[in-house]
Amino acid sequence: KIQSVVRGVGGYLPQRIMTNDDLAKIVDTSDEWIVQRTGIRQRHIAAEGEYTSDLALIAAQRALEKAGMDASEIDLIVVGTTTPDRTFPATAALVQQKLGITKGSAFDVQAVCSGFVFGVATADSYLKTGMAKRALVIGAETASRILDWNDRTTCVLFGDGAGAIILEAQEVADDAPENGILVSSLRTDGSHWDKLYVDGGVSTTQSIGHLRMEGREVFKHAVGMISDVIEDVLSKTGKTTEDLDWFVPHQANKRIIDGAGRKLGIPEAKTIVTVDKHANTSAASVPLALWVANEDGRIKKGDLVMIEAMGGGFTWGAALIRW
Ligand code: ACO
Repeated sequence: KIQSVVRGVGGYLPQRIMTNDDLAKIVDTSDEWIVQRTGIRQRHIAAEGEYTSDLALIAAQRALEKAGMDASEIDLIVVGTTTPDRTFPATAALVQQKLGITKGSAFDVQAVCSGFVFGVATADSYLKTGMAKRALVIGAETASRILDWNDRTTCVLFGDGAGAIILEAQEVADDAPENGILVSSLRTDGSHWDKLYVDGGVSTTQSIGHLRMEGREVFKHAVGMISDVIEDVLSKTGKTTEDLDWFVPHQANKRIIDGAGRKLGIPEAKTIVTVDKHANTSAASVPLALWVANEDGRIKKGDLVMIEAMGGGFTWGAALIRW
């Protein structure tokens, strides 16, 4: 059988940090309100001329370095993004070009905040069916470009960044110990599209538009949806939350993370939280959290790691990884 094994993880955050106090100079808000409602203290903002593919490239290079691999060994690039450089080509094609690769395939996955989890599940299927050997899965966003900086209900929540993981197909004996991506579960329910969306686009307005959100509605659905896919993944692998070494949730809001942890019985000590420093970086949030926890030595080889995300669509998904 084939296993999709984790070879390396990387991340990148733009240099410029915007604190809650900085935001309070732009809109009617306060550090106290933002911290209390979301747990966010600061976010990184991409510089002018710094594009999603630039962020993705650095995260990818760092992941390659960790894996001890050359870019030429990659034959699949999947980029989860909702803020592509251009309408087309795919940001994945631009990353491929910047990495100097001309072989294999590269494409974007548009599942908003769930883009990385959807990308991991997609790459896992490619590897397990022999369609590719070494996959680079990236979540990268310049969310700051689609924010309405006059709307305090949304502009305080997001940040820019990128994270990347390298998965490699390894052929092993049928009774080999579990390793890599064990199981994933993906869901979409488009009936909720108008609770979190961008009010512009190619076919509708021929403009970029701004992010719009009914925050309370998103909040109401988040914990239940996240729990559903996590329970699905656990039941398919015969595991319980007690088997988990690490829970790496989508970093949208500390209250959603806490709510999911409580519902599932996952202690805070096993939960990776970066939302305080990164805010919600959409598809980049999970790989950035994986990168941070891998770099600081918390996530180690052999650990059982649950990732999950939920976002616009609604889309939601989870994957269980033996690191
Ligand atoms: N600063 C100060 N006051 C604010 C701000 C702000 N930035 N934003 C809203 N308010 C005010 C509102 O105007 C309202 O005032 P009013 O009572 O006078 O009308 C008051 O604060 C309460 O507003 P609510 O929207 O009810 O606040 P709530 O407690 O629901 O918190 C929040 C809002 C943080 C957006 C919350 O609903 C939430 O976290 N929702 C989840 C959404 C989310 O995380 N989305 C991320 C994208 S989706 C994803 O990634 C899963």
